[in-house]
Amino acid sequence: MNFSVLTIFPEMVDPFLEYGIIRRAVEQQQISVSSINIRDYAEGRHRVTDDKPYGGGCGMVMKPEPLAGAITHAQKQNPDAATVLLTPQGKPFNQDLARELSARSGAILVCGRYEGVDERVCHSLIDTEISIGDYVLTGGELAAMVIIDAVTRLIPGTLGGEDSAEKESFENGLLEHAHFTRPQTFNGQDVPEVLLSGNHGKIDSWRLESSLMRTLLKRPDLLAAKALSSREKEILKKWGRRIKEITHG
Ligand code: ADE
Repeated sequence: MNFSVLTIFPEMVDPFLEYGIIRRAVEQQQISVSSINIRDYAEGRHRVTDDKPYGGGCGMVMKPEPLAGAITHAQKQNPDAATVLLTPQGKPFNQDLARELSARSGAILVCGRYEGVDERVCHSLIDTEISIGDYVLTGGELAAMVIIDAVTRLIPGTLGGEDSAEKESFENGLLEHAHFTRPQTFNGQDVPEVLLSGNHGKIDSWRLESSLMRTLLKRPDLLAAKALSSREKEILKKWGRRIKEITHG
């Protein structure tokens, strides 16, 4: 998958490509990431990329011409890519959106700065707007890196174990089960006995139960939105009965 990051700070993106799974994905050519400097498409000696807003007010707006030049160049290089503007006004980014993007051949990630981007660029050249959360960053670069990270690890072969992306949080509408590694006892706390048993059926049941209980406690909103299987309902009912027993004495 080919990512193009359109930014006035391309140096921000380069170090991110040098670590861990992202580095390996680049080395193994599962992804390519090219930073395009929007300033290279600006005119004049000072290559200005921002200007005062029409109508007055504080802050600056990204000029349309340099952005349009950079976007058009990226779209020519990568005609099937989705062109995404990173903005706090965009669609909230989540695992479903990451999965949708991972099925595309590429993504052109347009990083706004200042107060925002000239509206006419959004209308004519952007396919979709994405936000990584309800807070305002100083620019879209961190958001672009979040998206590259989350999308890359969904591309088959980028993670070590082939099925590791399927079993984790959000992939089935639940948070992932608890994890343990050696030593068997740490700070007086033991690893659950069942995980040492070698009985894979029992381990799977324990993990499903752990996953359901963690989701109930930490993200009940996810549980409420999920279509539960009869097995999952049974586990939750069992815990409900157990809680009733404790609270009713
Ligand atoms: N740019 C500034 N804030 C942002 C956010 N929350 N998500 C995506 N891009 C942004």
